[in-house]
Amino acid sequence: MTMRIFSENVSQTEQAGFNFARTLNAGDVVWIFGGLGAGKTAFVRGMALALGCAGPVTSPSYSLAHEYAGRITLFHFDAYRLNDTEDLLDIGWEDYLLRGGVCAVEWAQRLNPLPCPGRHVTIEEAEGGRRIDVSEQ
Ligand SMILES: Nc1ncnc2c1ncn2[C@@H]1O[C@H](COP(=O)(O)OP(=O)(O)O)[C@@H](O)[C@H]1O
Ligand SMILES: [Mg+2]
Repeated sequence: MTMRIFSENVSQTEQAGFNFARTLNAGDVVWIFGGLGAGKTAFVRGMALALGCAGPVTSPSYSLAHEYAGRITLFHFDAYRLNDTEDLLDIGWEDYLLRGGVCAVEWAQRLNPLPCPGRHVTIEEAEGGRRIDVSEQ
């Protein structure tokens, strides 16, 4: 079962991330699929707002993981520069999981197989905007 949203601009993608994150609990994992410029980071920016996280959300492409304290801590990963699932484990994935925040991972398509289950968010360009598919719990 998935929910499909059509986003016409970046703020609608942020709003979709906000609405989605309101359904999350501590310990949830979110795998975000989509190519360069799809809007993955925009979606996570909305998620951060809903989780009560302060501070600007920027792409963790270079630092691999960003941590945002909030009502629920958000751990934000980007697999763009990872070669495989093993690389995610090498940067301490299991330790982050155990800390009971929400873990959101961009470029999830680079990780085969995914190291654990989670919600799936897929963002694709469509009709000049973005089609966002969200898997149910
Ligand atoms: N509907 C949309 N949703 C999200 N981003 C959009 C949309 N339309 C255009 N954009 C642009 O696409 C880019 C998305 O950037 P970003 O969120 O960093 O993508 P990603 O993290 O997937 O690489 C931004 O420059 C944004 O302005
Ligand atoms: Mg990004």
